[in-house]
Amino acid sequence: MARVRVLLTLFPVAYALSVPTLDNSAQAIFAGKQPADLPHPDPTHSFWTHSPGANPLAGEGSTGELTNEADVCIIGSGITGVSVAYHLANAIQHGTFPVQDEGTNKVRAVILEARDFCSGATGRNGGNLTPYEFSRFRRAEALFGREAALRLYAIEHYSASEMARIARTAGWADTVDLVEGGHMDLLLTEERVKEAKADFDAAVAAGKTLNATWLDRDEMNSTYGTHNWGVRSPGYNVWPLKFVTQLFKQTRKVTPVLDLRLHTRTPVTSVSPLMAASFRRWELATPRGIVQCSYVLHATNGYASHLLPHMAGPGPAGIVPVRGQVLAMRANAPLDALSKISWVNNEGYWFPRPVTDVAEHPLVILGGARDAAGPPFEIDVTDDSIVDVNVGDVLRAFLPTLFPGLYTPGREPEAEWTGIMGYTALDIPFVGPVLNTNDVEEEDSYSYKGQFIAAGYAGHGMPRAFACAEVVVQMIAAELSNREWVAPAWFPRPFLTSVRDRPQ
Ligand SMILES: Cc1cc2nc3c(=O)[nH]c(=O)nc-3n(C[C@H](O)[C@H](O)[C@H](O)COP(=O)(O)OP(=O)(O)OC[C@H]3O[C@@H](n4cnc5c(N)ncnc54)[C@H](O)[C@@H]3O)c2cc1C
Ligand SMILES: *[C@@H]1O[C@H](CO)[C@@H](O)[C@H](O)[C@H]1NC(C)=O
Ligand SMILES: *[C@@H]1O[C@H](CO)[C@@H](O)[C@H](O)[C@H]1NC(C)=O
Repeated sequence: MARVRVLLTLFPVAYALSVPTLDNSAQAIFAGKQPADLPHPDPTHSFWTHSPGANPLAGEGSTGELTNEADVCIIGSGITGVSVAYHLANAIQHGTFPVQDEGTNKVRAVILEARDFCSGATGRNGGNLTPYEFSRFRRAEALFGREAALRLYAIEHYSASEMARIARTAGWADTVDLVEGGHMDLLLTEERVKEAKADFDAAVAAGKTLNATWLDRDEMNSTYGTHNWGVRSPGYNVWPLKFVTQLFKQTRKVTPVLDLRLHTRTPVTSVSPLMAASFRRWELATPRGIVQCSYVLHATNGYASHLLPHMAGPGPAGIVPVRGQVLAMRANAPLDALSKISWVNNEGYWFPRPVTDVAEHPLVILGGARDAAGPPFEIDVTDDSIVDVNVGDVLRAFLPTLFPGLYTPGREPEAEWTGIMGYTALDIPFVGPVLNTNDVEEEDSYSYKGQFIAAGYAGHGMPRAFACAEVVVQMIAAELSNREWVAPAWFPRPFLTSVRDRPQ
């Protein structure tokens, strides 16, 4: 396919949403910056990663001998990397991923993780697994057209419902605190209500089936204790690290044909081509030695440009690391008074954790308020070893102000941490073969043959990464079987790395 170079010089105008889009002024500030650093060696402790016993795989494979070769090398152990392994196991089991070595009848895969298991964004996020129903529909339709816009929502519905189905079927939904509590968009002004309604109407006009309930201020006040408008839709919340841990354990049981290894605390410092004569294509360098790989899967999200420097910066092919901050705050009321809903508004996103005792005051996970950091708004930052004091101040005051009485003003959080997201020009991830899009020569795309990526979820990866991982596995399987890859019905084509001519 001929690739058309379109210079997307501007980020979309900041959209009033809790996961703010990079705006133009912010873009100017970090334009031309260097590739991302490796993950910081000493990150803040999140509630998810540092609750006792929460991360049994933290140091798995960090000592002893390093796996020296594999058919598929997965860089990163977050929801993307582990989902890739999961889909690989299932593709092998279903006979769609051909076994390369007839002698051993094995497919060898290895996950390489710079820090502890799942200690990136997936281990540090807000825990919301929210498939958007209609949020930002007008923008999506204007940017990508109706069909692709509908798929933007379809992939989230698919990912989230599959994740919930897998956890329930395998019997570990409770282990990972999966809650189907619904999602509330809290609207503070009539202007926001009007915008939300316009998105809702546009989605209906496009033929989307919608499940949403509108609530006025009095209903919201009497039911939830906040005198603001709201629109309720389906949604889940989860302990993301526990979900990924269970998914990894389950992956290992799918088929003995998959030989899956995990090496934590093993950063990949470079990916370089092997000699043409070699059986493997790529060599990954780590401080512990070399790993030779036939396929390389970049599941590094905000850090992707460290190993793929041409993906640095805010251009159309860029992934920019952006720091987000979250805290865990004890509420001043039991769960029934707060509801099991996950919430979002312009400034933040939050949900109460499940409780074992109905009288217990739950811990509420709350993130957002990035604007409070001031320019450059945490953009182009990979240091998650510190928190921003100004963001922390806004987050502390946030819930007591919105829900008078349900939270105690001045109460200190029980944990506070940061994590690194991966933003892209259009807020959509890159999925597919790695292409060198800075040099538009057609043959350049070939110089990365065997390297794939699924990354850049723009702060909204929980309901997208699982399905994007499935797509890259299908692509590799198709290549190995000399079949043409066919996109699943729910997959939005604008996500493809090969679609450079994205409409603006
Ligand atoms: C503060 C915060 C709040 C968020 N809240 C939500 C939310 O509520 N809902 C939602 O849907 N999304 C949320 N997100 C976004 C979501 O967490 C991400 O989109 C998602 O977790 C991305 O998963 P991933 O596996 O692609 O990346 P990560 O989970 O970041 O995994 C990438 C891994 O790669 C490793 N790595 C990177 N470079 C290398 C290297 N060179 N060698 C070896 N390993 C490497 C990293 O250490 C990391 O573990 C939030 C993100 C943050 C930071
Ligand atoms: C919201 O509800 C509370 C408690 O019922 C009540 O005291 C308060 O006056 C209500 N606020 C408004 C603006 O109606
Ligand atoms: C609609 O969403 C609510 C949560 O907001 C959920 O309880 C209900 O089951 C959903 N209905 C359908 C038909 O999906």
